Amino acid sequence: MATQRVTRAVLPLAGLGTRFLPATKAVPKELLPLVDRPCLDYIIAEAVASGIEDMVFVISKGKGALLEHFSKDPYLEQYLEERNQTHLLAEVRRAARLAKVVAVRQHDALGLGHAVLTARPAVGDNPFAVLLGDDIIHNPAKPGLRQLLDVWDQHGQCVVALIEVPREETKRYGICDGTLRGRLMEVTGMVEKPDPADAPSNLSIVGRYVLPGEIFDILERTPKGAGGEIQLTDALAVLASRGQAWGYLFEGRRYDTGNVLGWLEATVGLALERPELAPQVREILRNALN
Ligand code: G1P
Repeated sequence: MATQRVTRAVLPLAGLGTRFLPATKAVPKELLPLVDRPCLDYIIAEAVASGIEDMVFVISKGKGALLEHFSKDPYLEQYLEERNQTHLLAEVRRAARLAKVVAVRQHDALGLGHAVLTARPAVGDNPFAVLLGDDIIHNPAKPGLRQLLDVWDQHGQCVVALIEVPREETKRYGICDGTLRGRLMEVTGMVEKPDPADAPSNLSIVGRYVLPGEIFDILERTPKGAGGEIQLTDALAVLASRGQAWGYLFEGRRYDTGNVLGWLEATVGLALERPELAPQVREILRNALN
């Protein structure tokens, strides 16, 4: 039986961005720029390049600006048009045309699993992708999410993106147990944020998932877990225990923009990827070190 095509993505964007205060007091963390585009713009572009058409934003109070960025702005377009600012006009239009966006509200901060469950009315029983707003996966040749969707197309079961992390960092991530063959892992277990001593491996989940619609029923029954929150990892562990979960060690570079140093690393790394900026950026870095 052919697997159902995945056309929707859920983006949990309700978080407060406390690790980035005071910058995020009035500005959603997902709108902080990486070079000249908001973080979220890169993530949506990755989803679109992977073949996803519809985005479901899970937002909370104060996150309305996220929708503005992906909406048409006739006044700004006219302003730029009248001044022949064609490059900027194209950029402003590109963001608004990138994807179809609907929003649902998460009223209580009860965890990632709860955020995903909040999107249920917009997703129905269909399979869907989840992209976390902090994780940038840079691979111009093959977008990170596309790599996971290829595994979905083959197996029709849950797929999570994996990276190797140093043992002492397992406490920051969902960690997978199972057998790795090449880049593909048959996942038999998952634990959210284990102590290094209890971690079943050093293969950690990063912010890309492809999930079957049945995950919603599992999430409805998932009790609070690590940090007193409803954890997506705990619901995925149910699929893993049934032999219905895969992990994929994706090709590409991952930046964690949710903390100051990760954001700086992403800013520098992505600026160096831009041929028109790279020579000056190198010079700025050289000067800063002298
Ligand atoms: C979330 C997930 C965790 C995953 C991580 C990836 O944690 O709960 O399983 O490894 O994202 O970035 P958070 O970073 O929201 O604490």
